[in-house]
Amino acid sequence: MNHPALIFLLFCISALLPPAYSAFISIGTNAIHFQDDTNSFVPIGLNIAWPPTNDAAVAVAYYESFFADLEANGGNFARVWLGPNLVDSFNPLALLRNNFTTPDETAATIVDGIVASAESHGVKILLTFDSFNGYCPSWASGNCKFDQSVFNANNGGPLNQYGGFVLFWSNQEAKKAFKDLLKFAAERWGESDAIFGWELFNEVDIAGQDLPTGFYDWHEEMAKYLRRVDNNRHLISESFGIVAGNKWIDGSDSFDFTSTHNYARTSRGPQIPDVAKSNANWAATKLDWYKKPTIIGEFGCDDTKKDADANFRHTLHAGVWSSLFQGGAGTGLSWFWNGSSMDDDFDREWFLKEFRLYKDFVDRLGGLIGDDKALGDIGFNSLDVHVLEGKHVDGFGIAGTEGGVSIAIAWLHDAKDTCESETPTREIQGGKIWLEQVPDGDWKVTFFNTDSGDITEVEVNSKGGLTVEVPTFVQDIAIIVSPVSMLVG
Ligand SMILES: *[C@@H]1O[C@H](CO)[C@@H](O)[C@H](O)[C@H]1NC(C)=O
Ligand SMILES: *[C@@H]1O[C@H](CO)[C@@H](O)[C@H](O)[C@H]1NC(C)=O
Repeated sequence: MNHPALIFLLFCISALLPPAYSAFISIGTNAIHFQDDTNSFVPIGLNIAWPPTNDAAVAVAYYESFFADLEANGGNFARVWLGPNLVDSFNPLALLRNNFTTPDETAATIVDGIVASAESHGVKILLTFDSFNGYCPSWASGNCKFDQSVFNANNGGPLNQYGGFVLFWSNQEAKKAFKDLLKFAAERWGESDAIFGWELFNEVDIAGQDLPTGFYDWHEEMAKYLRRVDNNRHLISESFGIVAGNKWIDGSDSFDFTSTHNYARTSRGPQIPDVAKSNANWAATKLDWYKKPTIIGEFGCDDTKKDADANFRHTLHAGVWSSLFQGGAGTGLSWFWNGSSMDDDFDREWFLKEFRLYKDFVDRLGGLIGDDKALGDIGFNSLDVHVLEGKHVDGFGIAGTEGGVSIAIAWLHDAKDTCESETPTREIQGGKIWLEQVPDGDWKVTFFNTDSGDITEVEVNSKGGLTVEVPTFVQDIAIIVSPVSMLVG
């Protein structure tokens, strides 16, 4: 086997063959769900935006412990920030933290450790290059820190110290530096299938409210450049503080999926504190607007109230679950409430239980679809879930058919469960629903208790939609409708 020609031939053959298994994430043909190669990839996780320390070993251990727990409990996803790019940024992972030209090697080394840890635990990470903070004036809000930006002339950057932040999007030196940053990351971590995708900014709209010259051109130029320097075509996205996002960026072909940040600020109106409903409705709306996969990239209760979520875990439960049933690609990704009680072990256990049960549900769904199909192969449409019996219950659903596989999922939620309510204890008994678009035929209806994982199965013959009684539940219940025989469909 030591013959150079033979080795060269083997080399040529292996270069021609596609890799046996590619775990890089792509988008299914339905333009709703993600997959790795041919398996469904349903993101199950949360934001773990930055570590609590810049001690490299401790920072990597922090992620390692989170990722190991995720893996052991069915989780597979985290959103991790590489910014804001401020001098001595509070985020130890911020790459541009000394000057605007050279990524910091200490920060990059911590990220190396995080990527390696994610790889070893089958966790995919969405890496966010920067955050709005450096590009709005410090007098505007406590979160605006242009004074500390590495691009500020006071810190050696190219942008005038007074109003220069508006020129970030068009300044040639700043653009070149940002491209170098993208290239640095693509070269350093782009070979890893632990990278789910890239996000240019956290909540970019807060930096300038879309007004500065060059804002949109900057986005096109950066996304296209990143695509060019990333050999593995990881997905690219952008995020916004405003819940509706931005139609010129979200709608652009340069961006692969959309992300919604939804905080239930009570000041925004009486319907708002219902995180379940708003996460689900925004998923449906973004899907309808852009026909590309959508995630709830951040959510929580009123972020202007300290520790609002720590008291309202039941609402986080609803936010984790709801969006999938309106075409969201995975769990809602809760904020991680750095500095609050959400970091302690009690809360982590709570999250892990959510992920375990959600994974059970997704696996059960996958089993009903069959091994040879991914969710992304199935063209889903919205399913009207009419609650015939049961007061103050909301219903959400999607249904799809492809190549002999028919499937529907639905979710019922106690509409009285909001950020402002106590943990629901109301037993919803004698419920009955009508799933309007389910074709006539014999169906298996699987009710999944999202608190215990208990299953109740019934067979129903449908005519003019499927009508079925619902087992007693508290807060919410998930439902799968599949053919009694998989050959029917
Ligand atoms: C939260 O982040 C701050 C920096 O903003 C850091 O000093 C603190 O240690 C972090 N706390 C936790 C519990 O992660
Ligand atoms: C920028 O910071 C890096 C360290 O991160 C340093 O090596 C480099 O010399 C600095 N460049 C300038 C122009 O100060």
